[in-house]
Amino acid sequence: MRPPAEAIGALALIVGAIALLIFLAVEGALVYAVWRYRSSRSSAGKPAGFEGNRRLEIAWTAAPALVLAVVFALMLGTMAEIGGASVEPGLRVRAVGHQWWWEFGYGAVLTANELHIPVDTAVDLELTSADVIHSFWVPELGGKRDMLPGTTNRLRLFARRAGVYEGQCSEFCGVEHAWMRIRVVAESQADFDRWLAAQGQPAATRGDGERIFLAAICVNCHAVRGTSAAGTAGPDLTHVGARATLGAGVLPNDVARMRAWVADPQQYKPGALMPRVPLSDAELDTLAAYLVSLK
Ligand code: CUA
Repeated sequence: MRPPAEAIGALALIVGAIALLIFLAVEGALVYAVWRYRSSRSSAGKPAGFEGNRRLEIAWTAAPALVLAVVFALMLGTMAEIGGASVEPGLRVRAVGHQWWWEFGYGAVLTANELHIPVDTAVDLELTSADVIHSFWVPELGGKRDMLPGTTNRLRLFARRAGVYEGQCSEFCGVEHAWMRIRVVAESQADFDRWLAAQGQPAATRGDGERIFLAAICVNCHAVRGTSAAGTAGPDLTHVGARATLGAGVLPNDVARMRAWVADPQQYKPGALMPRVPLSDAELDTLAAYLVSLK
């Protein structure tokens, strides 16, 4: 299959071309009439009246109806194509919208905000929401679809080339709606398999940082597989260090930013459901280094 964005682009070109032809025909007729019946050329007489001309009225009702019917048929074809029902998906990923981050599930493997997919593979997202209505949209890879609590919607993605594709929540979902960025990493099947295998591993045991994490309020909301932390309200942090950003795109992910984020998330994402984590400076240093080491 071709990427849905290409199918939509092709349809837009065809509809644009039809609209351009109609525009040229109508404006051409107008310019011709103005020129033909201009007052300085009284010899042309007055234009003929068309009142009650049944044939003409049928024609200018039927012609637009025909144009609309053609566009409608083309649109149905494109919708069927980008829906992808005729192509079996090579991968299914569960995507859950949260205020204000994304959860992605590959079977039992959970991650957040950064979706990895193999190139040249039809990927079906199973979309739902944990709270309010969100909308998933990565324009270069597929259509836009709402994520509704209690319902699962399906959205087909397809990437032709490896790379990073940016997306954004597209349904107003609260104060941090603008900071629900989606980062899609499309990569070769081999790279994707390596990534998924690494994500499936539990976190390595890591001394002091892990002890601080498990003793702090972090564990109420976050899980790190391989430890006793099993919170589900916030993003799974088992491999948080492997992700490029923090807070669904608010900050780049490194030790300094991780420390600043954990110390005061509200400074970077006001309204985010994560509270400040009350720790000493030394504990924050150790905790931030631990979290970023979870690759
Ligand atoms: Cu989620 Cu807007």
